[in-house]
Formats: sequence, C-alpha cells, structure tokens
Amino acid sequence: MTSENEWDGVALREISPEWARRVIFLPECGSTNDEARRLAIKGAPGLSVVLTEKQTAGRGRRGQPWTCPPGEGLAFSLILRPQEPMALWSRFALATGLAMAEALDSFGLFAGVKWPNDVWVAGKKICGVLVEADAGFVVVGVGLNVNVVEFPNGLAHPATSLALELGEKVSREEVLVSCLQRLLLRLDQIGAGFGDLMEEWSTRCVLAGNDVRLDAGGVLKTGRVEGLSSQGELLLRTEEGLEKVLQASEIRML
Ligand code: BTN
Repeated sequence: MTSENEWDGVALREISPEWARRVIFLPECGSTNDEARRLAIKGAPGLSVVLTEKQTAGRGRRGQPWTCPPGEGLAFSLILRPQEPMALWSRFALATGLAMAEALDSFGLFAGVKWPNDVWVAGKKICGVLVEADAGFVVVGVGLNVNVVEFPNGLAHPATSLALELGEKVSREEVLVSCLQRLLLRLDQIGAGFGDLMEEWSTRCVLAGNDVRLDAGGVLKTGRVEGLSSQGELLLRTEEGLEKVLQASEIRML
C-alpha cells in the first residue's frame, strides 16, 4: 500500500505481508466496487483488494447510498476470478456475509447474518455487502462500521459499529485482515463446501423464527422464517405453505 496516512501499510504488512501485497489503497474514490471493476477489466488478478478511506459515491443494495465518515470505517472491494460456474456466483453474497460475521468473533462480538448478506450485532446493522458480477469476474464489496459513533438519521435499519458495541476503538487494519482471512476461507466454499457453509450460516440466521414481510421480485410475501435450505434459499412459511425464496429485496421483521 502506498499512502502517507494511517493506511501506510506498515501495520498491515506486520499482520499479513501476503494481504498487504494485494491491497491497492486509494485515499478517495467514487466507489471501491467501481474501481475494482475497472481494475479487473484491465486484468488485475483475483484476490486483489481495493481499499479506500473515502467514497464519494459508495453504493449499497437496491441503489441505496453507502456513506461512512473517513477514518471511521472499512470500505473495500475484493476481485474474484471464480472457477465455479456462474450459476453458483449468487452464493458469494451469502459466503461474504458469513465471513464478515465470523471476522467479528475475534473482537469479542457475536454477529448474526440477516439473509441474504447483512451482518447484524445486537439487533442493529454493522456491515453491508454488495456483490456484483461481470464477465469472468466478481467484485465483493464490503462496508463495515468499525469506529463510527454517529449515524445519519433516516437509515433503513438501526446501525451500530464495533466501537459502539465494545466501548472502545479498534484497529481497522486488524479488522481488515480478519475479514480477508475469513473471506478467503468462505469464498472457497461456494461449490463442494456449500452445504457446510450453509450449516454454519444457519446458526447465525437472525431471521429464523421471525415473522417477516418481503418483496420477492415484485411479489409481497408475509410469513414466518423457518430457516434456510442447503442451497441458500430462505424457507418462508406462508398461508399457502412452505416457500423457498431465492431472492428478495426489502425484508422487514414484523
Ligand atoms: C448494503 O448494505 O446495502 C451494501 C453496502 C455495501 C457498501 C460497500 S462499501 C465498499 C463497496 N463499495 C461500494 O460502493 N459499496 C460497497
């Protein structure tokens, strides 16, 4: 990493020389997902990471903006060049959410995953994931509230951060390395290891047992979440019976 600030790469090299070599630091950019896509098109290898201090056009799912005060969060995007068929690529979102939740374990937090890929702690969102696929590569974008202590009004969900939950600031480089290490393990499981991944996912599913309302491709559904299938679908008990939901946009707990 090359930068004359906190992200000078020294600590990252000490913690993980391997990852330090793969990280491209941009002091400011529009969106790390867009930068990663641009670099991937130019031939950047898989497992390259674009990290920034400030995004001016950070994006969330459903076209929502993603903002974070500079110096307080983590915003990065990982380029993948998967061997697995494209039909399985949607699993990267589930794998990433789980990896992020697990990364927080080492900081003393128990994080749950809100299907498909939000990470929640104590009933609040701490991390969001935006996975975007292109021809021959995938960009996995992660926004994690590390040392954020104030959030804007009007967020779709209550939000929290590691600092708020732990009562002290945390090294963002340590968090980054923990995230990347867990990602490396979980992203490798979208093929043969996916059943194991989903078993672990189910233990952290914050929606299980809850009544929810969701929008599945324009169809509003209400029901009780019974868990997840081994393929990663949400199992929703509605008045019509048990439905497997493959994709949904807004999911509200009732
Ligand atoms: C969501 O919860 O809606 C997903 C938020 C994803 C935000 C991250 S920050 C790094 C990467 N770059 C972006 O523009 N978005 C993702």
